[in-house]
Amino acid sequence: MNEGGAMDFYDLVSKRCSVRSFERNKSIPEEVLNRILNSGRVAPSACNLQPWHFHVVTSPEILEKIYPGYKRDWIQSAPCLLIVSGDRNNAWVRRQDNYNSIETDLTIVMDHLILAATKEGLGTCWIAAFDPGIIREALQLEPNIEIFAFTPLGYAAPDALPAPKKRKSLDEITTYY
Ligand SMILES: Cc1cc2nc3c(=O)[nH]c(=O)nc-3n(C[C@H](O)[C@H](O)[C@H](O)COP(=O)(O)O)c2cc1C
Repeated sequence: MNEGGAMDFYDLVSKRCSVRSFERNKSIPEEVLNRILNSGRVAPSACNLQPWHFHVVTSPEILEKIYPGYKRDWIQSAPCLLIVSGDRNNAWVRRQDNYNSIETDLTIVMDHLILAATKEGLGTCWIAAFDPGIIREALQLEPNIEIFAFTPLGYAAPDALPAPKKRKSLDEITTYY
């Protein structure tokens, strides 16, 4: 059974937290990575257009090119970066007001990936505060491809203790009618 095999969904969402310190030399087994990627693959998207692409980066050479795009020392402890890109021109557009579903589709897929990684016992951290130009260059992306988010993937270092969740109470964020 994979780690957390019997993990209930509610335990899973409570367990997920942002991890910012990893075991640098502990790589991710291929079957674990495949299960995570497959969880993203089956995510829903508007009109089922699946306008996403997953970039799995473990090459030290490419990682070195990415680091200047997110200048936090801790990111360098992750053995793998999972970058999610998308093609806005390939996403669904609502004709009444030209709403484009790309951000929604990519957010859903990212959440699937992150929750699957949590179930596999891996640490993740949703990263948006990156310099897209530097990462685009590192991955040699075509001009129409945008990067929406990335996450480090790896086993949390022993010092990466989860912080207690600070969240608004349900009373603050819910109205019953
Ligand atoms: C859209 C989005 C962007 C984020 N960007 C970053 C980031 O650039 N760097 C970072 O360290 N954490 C980032 N985070 C993580 C949040 O800080 C974190 O999810 C939040 O503080 C709640 O903590 P938790 O994930 O441990 O529950 C981001 C989270 C989201 C959802």
